[in-house]
Amino acid sequence: MNVTDIDFLRRRVDEDDALRSAPELREALDSGAPGVGPWLEAFGGRTERNLVLFPLRGAGSDIVLATLLAGGTVVLGDPDAHPARTLALLERSGATAVTLPSKLVERLNSEPSAPMTDLSELNRIYYVGEPARFDLPGPALSRVDTLTLDHVEQFVARFRDAVLASMLLTLQANGVLRDAAVSHSAEEILNAARVAERHHGVVQRWLVALTEHGVLARQGDRFLGTEPISRDAVEKAWDASEKLWTGHLGAAEVAAYFRHNAERLPQLMTGEEQATLLLFPEGRTDIADALYRDTAVARHLNARVSEYVQRLGAKRILEVGAGTGATSEVVIRDLAGQATDYLFTDLSAFFLTTAKERFAEHPWVRYGIYDIDTENPEGLGTFDAVIAAGVLNNARDADATLKRLKDLLVPGGSLLIIEPTREYYEILISQAFMMTAAEDARLRSGTTFLSRQQWVEAIDRAGLSLVDVTPDDAHPLSPMSQYLFVARH
Ligand SMILES: C[S@@+](CC[C@H](N)C(=O)[O-])C[C@H]1O[C@@H](n2cnc3c(N)ncnc32)[C@H](O)[C@@H]1O
Repeated sequence: MNVTDIDFLRRRVDEDDALRSAPELREALDSGAPGVGPWLEAFGGRTERNLVLFPLRGAGSDIVLATLLAGGTVVLGDPDAHPARTLALLERSGATAVTLPSKLVERLNSEPSAPMTDLSELNRIYYVGEPARFDLPGPALSRVDTLTLDHVEQFVARFRDAVLASMLLTLQANGVLRDAAVSHSAEEILNAARVAERHHGVVQRWLVALTEHGVLARQGDRFLGTEPISRDAVEKAWDASEKLWTGHLGAAEVAAYFRHNAERLPQLMTGEEQATLLLFPEGRTDIADALYRDTAVARHLNARVSEYVQRLGAKRILEVGAGTGATSEVVIRDLAGQATDYLFTDLSAFFLTTAKERFAEHPWVRYGIYDIDTENPEGLGTFDAVIAAGVLNNARDADATLKRLKDLLVPGGSLLIIEPTREYYEILISQAFMMTAAEDARLRSGTTFLSRQQWVEAIDRAGLSLVDVTPDDAHPLSPMSQYLFVARH
């Protein structure tokens, strides 16, 4: 896209009655519409009458603009409408194309009125997400990969800004850090904000983050304040990051979860509110599911783990810290029909109960408690593959845990590790309030996660050989800095 394209799009939006008043389109144009490219590529020069079933705040704006740029026209649909209404709108609007998330494709399939709907005008279904099929004859189905490296880099920067803004707002609300001429010690700040002792480490890391990003300045071991940030500025920062996230990198629930944590920081800090209850409200796992299962990065990495398990021909598999079963679900589904033994373990019995229901149709899945911080139980046996997805950062001592997991592998067996590898400021306002204090290199560096390089070195120290680290630096998801490490015994 170039400037002329943007001017052309502004004119097209102004000409269209339905689109003229959409502030989301203006915002997308003002930010240079970075997400338009993949859609334009997907349309491949085809001029469509396009029914857009994505919220404008999210992928919808990109699709609208790409449709206009390709010379087409837009019909806006309600993504939350009942599938019967969506089918009726498809018929009535004479849309030649529809753009929607893959979940909606599945819902249209199972809508009883589908076979009675006249979809003769519809040539193509463009969808985002899991591979989908459409049961009715006619339209071609195209999966659109909407992510670009540039888009993900922008998201990472905007999300970080929003989180830092919320940290600052929360601290300033306690009367500290509101003046560039006044300095405070960390202790004064923690006291003013009534931070519970067990959370001192987390809030001290906020101060480091705010200083590193130039929000606060440091004078020796004291912190200088800055102009008070307004709630409005904080809200705007969250809006900008949500727009880049939703429909591209994950579900709206995930963005809402972090924003909700940001709003509850005063209570989380003082210990009046528990971070666990924000992640699992009333014991529900839908937010954790969206976080661990339905993000672009989780889908990518879980699919890679399953590919490895298949490629290795692993028959005896142990998963540790299996939790909500986001990784297990993909691996177990792909293993169905092959005689295997899958031992699903976690520290918490809570997850085992849910998993037993979820995987009830696979009698070869067994369940047990396994703690990555203690010696291996007698008689546990050995495995062709051990999977540890998002759990090793809970280990008190990553080196000791890696050695124990290695002992559970047969010679030639593989350890598949998924780990975040940088400081995620969003974790510092949410799950850091419920994590175990580390006793390894993270204690010395004051970080939550080991870096990619630290994992590579730890794998080597454990006597394992590193086979692969994915995604590579050119992949659109690389700015998320979450990796799959594959190591062989
Ligand atoms: C971030 S979640 C893991 C995500 C998981 N793969 C999923 O799909 O839900 C971390 C998991 O590690 C488990 N965990 C925490 N400390 C542990 C320990 N010491 N030993 C084993 N599991 C642990 C937690 O109960 C939780 O289920």
